[in-house]
Amino acid sequence: MQFNVREVEYASDALAVSLPQLRAPSVASNASVGNRMQESIPAHLPAAPAHIRAGRRMMDSHGRTILDLRISITDRCNFRCVYCMEPDVQFQPRENLLTPSEIIRMASVAQSLGVRKIRLTGGEPTLHPQLTEIISGIRAATDVEIAMISNGSLLTREKLRSWKRAGLDRMTISIDSVRPDRFARVTRSTLMPEAVIAGIEMCVAEGLTPLKLNAVLVRGQNHDEAVELARLARRFGVEMRFIEYMPLDSARAWDRSLMVTAQETRRTIEAVFALTPTNTDDRHSTARTYVFADGAPGRIGFIAPVSNPFCGACSRLRLTADGNVRPCLFSATEWSAMKLLRKGASDSELANFFIDVTWTKLAGHNIASPEFVQPARPMSAVGG
Ligand code: 5AD
Ligand code: SF4
Repeated sequence: MQFNVREVEYASDALAVSLPQLRAPSVASNASVGNRMQESIPAHLPAAPAHIRAGRRMMDSHGRTILDLRISITDRCNFRCVYCMEPDVQFQPRENLLTPSEIIRMASVAQSLGVRKIRLTGGEPTLHPQLTEIISGIRAATDVEIAMISNGSLLTREKLRSWKRAGLDRMTISIDSVRPDRFARVTRSTLMPEAVIAGIEMCVAEGLTPLKLNAVLVRGQNHDEAVELARLARRFGVEMRFIEYMPLDSARAWDRSLMVTAQETRRTIEAVFALTPTNTDDRHSTARTYVFADGAPGRIGFIAPVSNPFCGACSRLRLTADGNVRPCLFSATEWSAMKLLRKGASDSELANFFIDVTWTKLAGHNIASPEFVQPARPMSAVGG
């Protein structure tokens, strides 16, 4: 894998990070065109205005406040989902990844700045050998809601219980197909979808609820499974969410024609199950949710970052497994918290860093523009 590397520096104390930037495009595609909006980010992290720093909240220059931190605790995964990772994806050496105590420290500083929810992501977070310690450390240091997203492949009752005891509140599980051949093709694993469905049952039984399920429909792979997946919501009384395929795959194979829009998915489901909007979604929520008009349990959620961007109400920030803070899933630039942590920064320096990075958050991701360029790092590295 080939990257162009660009150095960025933190103005106040010359914090430098080598960030893999845009991979040399092999073929001209939608994703290989320059995104001018992204390129306007300065090479030095500027300090946020003094009154913003003094507010001890993560506010951006567009009036949004960060309430939700997504932490990728590992870049490793045992799946290679077609919309996410190529089979030969290169993982980072372990010493480049945040340690549990660094993760906990960042969580604690984030909560001191108003973060209310932390979502542990990956890669596949359940592969982390110290996951229970990470959860219990965050629980001891903060009172945020702790959620985790998993591919559901490695769940056991014992593990779920120990994570819950450690302080995990909720789970989200990805399931893209209920058909064994399809499941294998989409995830490029040998696991049977029944194993993930068993994991879903266990999460409900262990009270890691409200449980959400995520699916990404890709045309030509699983685009015709919306109704079968919707049945899972009714069967388990959970929220089945359909996320539009975003240009965040490491293969850079994303193309608009491969994406199944939220609207198309809703029409397909409504041909079988009438849906009623709940109209109760949190302003910051990524999903628009519906209940079944026939009163069956469960919900359907649609997450439409491509066809109907929700950047205006974004309250999220991301911490990558290798310790960079990304203002947006689609950022071309990220800033190294790891360097600050490893040179002994104080909590107040880390807080200023969070505040300054937030101030750089762009208004939107610009996916709809022909000038949009796919970020160098796939979803697995940036913490979905
Ligand atoms: N587009 C949309 N969703 C994606 N995910 C991973 N890659 C993509 C992509 N390219 C989803 C996973 C998981 C969540 C963390 O992000 O399916 O549910
Ligand atoms: Fe792994 Fe999740 Fe990416 Fe699939 S989408 S390869 S389960 S990180």
